[in-house]
Amino acid sequence: PLRQRLLVVANRLPVSAVRKGEDSWSLEMSAGGLVSALLGVKEFEARWIGWAGVNVPDEVGQKALTKALGEKRCIPVFLDEEIVHRYYNGYCNNILWPLFHYLGLPQEDRLATTRSFQSQFEAYKKANQMFADVVHQHYEEGDVVWCHDYHLMFLPKCLKERNNNMKVGWFLHTPFPSSEIHRTLPSRSDLLRSVLAADLVGFHTYDYARHFVSACTRILGLEGTPEGVEDQGRLTRVAAFPIGIDSDRFIRALELPQVQVHIKELKERFAGRKVMLGVDRLDMIKGIPQKILAFEKFLEEYPYWCDKVVLLQIAVPTRTDVPEYQKLTSQVHEIVGRINGRFGTLTAVPIHHLMCISAGNFKRMAGLSLIAEKGGRDRSLDFFALCALYAVTDVALVTSLRDGMNLVSYEFVACQDLKKGAAQSLGAGAILVNPWNITEVADSIRQALTMTPEEREKRHQHNFVHVTTHTAQEWADTFVSELNDTVIEAQLRT
Ligand code: UDP
Ligand code: G6P
Repeated sequence: PLRQRLLVVANRLPVSAVRKGEDSWSLEMSAGGLVSALLGVKEFEARWIGWAGVNVPDEVGQKALTKALGEKRCIPVFLDEEIVHRYYNGYCNNILWPLFHYLGLPQEDRLATTRSFQSQFEAYKKANQMFADVVHQHYEEGDVVWCHDYHLMFLPKCLKERNNNMKVGWFLHTPFPSSEIHRTLPSRSDLLRSVLAADLVGFHTYDYARHFVSACTRILGLEGTPEGVEDQGRLTRVAAFPIGIDSDRFIRALELPQVQVHIKELKERFAGRKVMLGVDRLDMIKGIPQKILAFEKFLEEYPYWCDKVVLLQIAVPTRTDVPEYQKLTSQVHEIVGRINGRFGTLTAVPIHHLMCISAGNFKRMAGLSLIAEKGGRDRSLDFFALCALYAVTDVALVTSLRDGMNLVSYEFVACQDLKKGAAQSLGAGAILVNPWNITEVADSIRQALTMTPEEREKRHQHNFVHVTTHTAQEWADTFVSELNDTVIEAQLRT
């Protein structure tokens, strides 16, 4: 049978473009969980539609980039600088992102945001319309159109307005907040209504789905049912679809010679020390300052460990034009500097804070010949180096204050088959912590570092089974088949 054609629409394409000349481009992997998860989805005839992360004002450049992306089955949406500023930096990442993660704006920004809100919301709607236009150009009858994340909450409406027969799904990769929080958005109703234009709306967890349904009932006065939300006889199906990773890709990578070489180098480099690892985009939601302060507390409380453990914190720069992110970067640098000054010796520091601005930079900072520099992939860590890091890690430390579904913890588990590990946000297998309580985190660090091999093994087994059975492919299969079923049922009803 023909494979289902799928149009995946997300703000972020799996590759981001860097201009090399008037008509030449290089493409690098984009960072983040959305891209990682979708790259694990293979069993569809999929096309990606999204933004390539750069401003391309000229036609020559646009043509060349469209061609280069085409080879990767990607279709660009060109957004100009002004739109990116108000839509991406502004509405998406300064308003929706913090709100959906329950992080308030700093007081001094609140009024400023109230004022700029309207123009940012207009840009948001306009950008969503531009995505819709590109979808319409490439849509063929029978395609499933799958819209992703908080950047594109207006897209389902834009799509259905022009073609009511289109099968449209929308999935949110972040938490959906309680209706009490959603209520504080000036555009609260518009956003809900436009998402409801989709046939199927998906969330990571049942709680987020429930929050969305209650926002629709309380704010819009619609009827919530076990199936979803009903508006004058039309049902929008709402459900939870927990995401996963392509665990095989990680497990296979561990056997490759180049990964084995990395693993050997890392083991030599950190011989005699336990390795703790953090891998995060440098984002407020990841609780990086909290994590580092908890690590400091741990060193304070248990000085025995000072020269026997190292924390490797990989921080991937992200959304660097948004002021809050700039503040976070300098804050983290400051704390790391202070703690390394306090606990470091002439030969070793307890925290290696690695900003992956470029592969070469990472190598220098880590003092490792770790990165296989293939054509200078930038900004984020080489996949093989990442797998090696996960493999040699004794304890992964995830301290997200709130997170949609942290994939780093899944990747760590997948790579621990050689040396069993724990300390994850994976229910019974992990040690769960409250990131706001640094004393508790410090004690959990100790618990993780001193756990008996038997207990590690038991916890790891639990996590490993979960990670290898809840894959990205299954997540996508379930979503798409549910979407197909929903559309058929709706046709039967009318
Ligand atoms: N990752 C990356 N570049 C790096 C380090 C990590 O792209 O230098 C990947 C990592 O492997 C993971 C994703 O970024 O798949 C982060 O996903 P997660 O769900 O943990 O958080 P998000 O960044 O989506 O908030
Ligand atoms: C999160 C969001 C994604 C986003 C990613 C990276 O995972 O849910 O939509 O792509 O972060 O952020 P960026 O702004 O660089 O796309």
